[in-house]
Amino acid sequence: MRDDIDQVLIDRHEIAARVQTVAQQITSDLQAHEGGNLLLPDGPGLTLVPILTGSIIFLADLMRHLPLRLRIRLVAISSYPGSATTSRGATILEHLTNLPEDLTGQHVLLIDDIFDSGTTLKAAKSLLEKRNAAGVRTCVLLRKKRAETLDQHVDYCCFEIPDAFVVGYGLDYNDYYRNLPDIVTLKPQIFARSS
Ligand code: IMP
Ligand code: MG
Repeated sequence: MRDDIDQVLIDRHEIAARVQTVAQQITSDLQAHEGGNLLLPDGPGLTLVPILTGSIIFLADLMRHLPLRLRIRLVAISSYPGSATTSRGATILEHLTNLPEDLTGQHVLLIDDIFDSGTTLKAAKSLLEKRNAAGVRTCVLLRKKRAETLDQHVDYCCFEIPDAFVVGYGLDYNDYYRNLPDIVTLKPQIFARSS
């Protein structure tokens, strides 16, 4: 697996430091919001909604730096099926999604691994809004620098990266490489093999 790596773009130490900083930012924003009501032991709390599967490692690290009353609901969306490396549009996978039909009064933090074309995050956000979430904030580990998405807003982003296909720290190629601790690019022959 290590032999398949071309370049390490962001190493595990940089990721850990930045995830902690972003978590602190989220916490202080929520403290400011509604006079900190969301954080009270008997307050409504925050609902984390990770988009499966790519966000699981980011979620695990981020949530351990959120000293909040929170719970988790899952949304599964497929946009890069199999060995695709460009978006094929967002399909909600109902069988892996456990979102309540009614989210009235719930403040949600939607979490994804990477914002590329923005289609996935947009689909998930509109699903949450249709179910009446009181507020939806968005948080991504990575965002690809692409001219055509500059006008699209994300509330929290850990790193902006060049428009390249990356894996590791939860991100996959053909469902492999999620367990790499760093964010890396793969050697071109890896893609050539499966096309
Ligand atoms: P979007 O809908 O184009 O923004 O793509 C977002 C989704 O596509 C993410 O949730 C990822 O699962 C996947 N994705 C986008 N870019 C990459 C990449 O470079 N590596 C791995 N997965 C990616
Ligand atoms: Mg994904």
